This record gives sequence, structure tokens and C-alpha cells, in this order.
Amino acid sequence: MIKKQQDEALKYFEEHAEKWRKLAKSSAYDKVNVIKQRNDFVLKVVADRKITDTALDVGCGTGDLVCEMASRGIKALGVDFAREMIDLAEENARNSNLLNAKFFCCSIFDFPFEPEKYDLISANGFIEYISYAELDRLFKSSYESLKKEGSLVLGSRNRLFNIFSLNKFTQDEIVSNEIIALLLEAIQIMKSEHIADLIGFETAPLQKEDKEHEITGIKVSTRYQFTPAQLASMLHAKGFEPIEIYPIHIHGSFPKFKEKNPAVHVLIANFLQEFAKNNACLIPQSSSFMIHGKKR
Ligand SMILES: C[S@@+](CC[C@H](N)C(=O)[O-])C[C@H]1O[C@@H](n2cnc3c(N)ncnc32)[C@H](O)[C@@H]1O
Repeated sequence: MIKKQQDEALKYFEEHAEKWRKLAKSSAYDKVNVIKQRNDFVLKVVADRKITDTALDVGCGTGDLVCEMASRGIKALGVDFAREMIDLAEENARNSNLLNAKFFCCSIFDFPFEPEKYDLISANGFIEYISYAELDRLFKSSYESLKKEGSLVLGSRNRLFNIFSLNKFTQDEIVSNEIIALLLEAIQIMKSEHIADLIGFETAPLQKEDKEHEITGIKVSTRYQFTPAQLASMLHAKGFEPIEIYPIHIHGSFPKFKEKNPAVHVLIANFLQEFAKNNACLIPQSSSFMIHGKKR
């Protein structure tokens, strides 16, 4: 099952690297550029940090974030197991003459992590494709490989959005009796002054490991969703101080409206995105979110 998840991910991303490159650069009027929103958050973290000399991007895809970081003078390395993605990432860096953007093709679980090497490690649109045991390994390797006060930045599909989407995902949460726990977490986020208030919050259990999910665009049958409290608690347990959660792809209305009026949806989503910083109250309406933790 778990192997199937990674096998499907490798096949999908090998076959769709070119499409991914276009998506990363897109400013289409009828599709929100989630890749750019996630990258922008990582760049905000960089801007907020005192020093970022070295960075590692896990599951780097076509390398846009690595190139953005390299253009800011950071020695940035991207790792991806899809050869086609790495070829495009290297081309991307060559075209912009970025000598400090480097790429490496292998599974991150075969990557030789070095101790205390990086100021920042990011993984955008990545943790949904790995098992919980692999996520555990990623936390451990990242912790060891980050310098003191190094930043770990993760992007995640947002399970709290299942409350708001009013579709099959919502029905599933009702059937599995977990919708109330998710609602209570959403209320907790509204009341919270800081992400630290979510550490240890009793929310829904993690999704069943063998769950096959509704396919939404990417043909990988198991793509986990997490809640902010789940990831904040995990970060804390693994030696990180959770710093911030940040909404990605904010929905001003329900997905049904988006399907019928994509251009209006994009206008509203991009407008709301301007308010993402310091507005965790937008999280339940976001289909993804970012979380930033610092090595304690
Ligand atoms: C959804 S894409 C995200 C790409 C990029 N981070 C972005 O935000 O545009 C996920 C990427 O993770 C890569 N990936 C998945 N599992 C991996 C693994 N075990 N090791 C390295 N890369 C992996 C895939 O090949 C794919 O390029």
C-alpha cells in the first residue's frame, strides 16, 4: 500500500514534469497558482530570518523555489526523485545563470543528510505522498541536518477544509464521525492568539494509512491531508518550536461555485491571499496551509 503511494507519485511526476513547469509559472485567470503561493511563503520565512546561507528543498519539482532562493544569494539544493523534474530544474537554473542552485536526483529517503548543514529545509506539496513512518524519518533527518534555530517549512493539504468544502470529503468526515473534532479545531484556531495554542490540541486522528482518496487532479490514490494541530503537535514532539501557520488557496465560496465560476474564484482567492499573513482565521477556508517550525 505504502509502496504503491510512492510508486504512483514517481510515475505521475515523471510523466507530468512539463505540465508542472507550466503550472509553476502560470498566471492563468482561471486557476490559482498554489505553487507560487507556497513558494512566496517560504521566501517570507527567509526574509524574516536573520541569516539564511544554505537551504534544501525536498521534492523540489521544477526547481522554482530553489532558483528564487539562489537569486537571493542562498546556496540552495533541490532534491527530487523524478529525473524529468530534475532535468527541468537544472535547465531553469541554467537559463537564469544561477550557479548556487544545485539539484540532486534521488528519493529523499536515500539522500545523504549531513549534520547541521542547512539554515532552512522546505517541503512544499510533498508530505501528502509519503507514509507516516516516512514523515517521521523526514522530521528526524531535518532536525539533525538543520543548524540551531534552523527553519523547517512544510506545505500540507488541509483536512480542516473538508468541513467547508461541502462535498464528498465532508461526507467522509461525517461517516467516519470525525467532523466534530475538526470543527472544534477550527473554533480553537479562531480563538488562538498563537500556533502554540494548537500543540497537543485533541483533534481528529490521522487519516487511515490505507485510505484511498478522492482523486483531485493528481493521479495518486493516497494523498494525506493533515490539520494544523496535527502538524503543530508533531513538530513540537520532534524538537521544533511551531512559529506560524499560513493559509494557501483561500476559498471565498464553496468548491461548487469555483467549478461554475473559476475566474471569479481566482479573483477572490488572490484578493484574500493578500491578507494571509497573520490571519490564521482564514485557515478553515484554505485547501492547503503552510507551517513553519524552528529547531529548538
Ligand atoms: C506536488 S510536487 C511539488 C513540487 C514542488 N515542491 C512545488 O511545490 O511545485 C511533489 C514532488 O515531490 C517529488 N517526490 C515525491 N516523493 C519523493 C521522494 N520520496 N523523494 C524525492 N522526491 C519526491 C515528486 O517527484 C514531485 O516532484
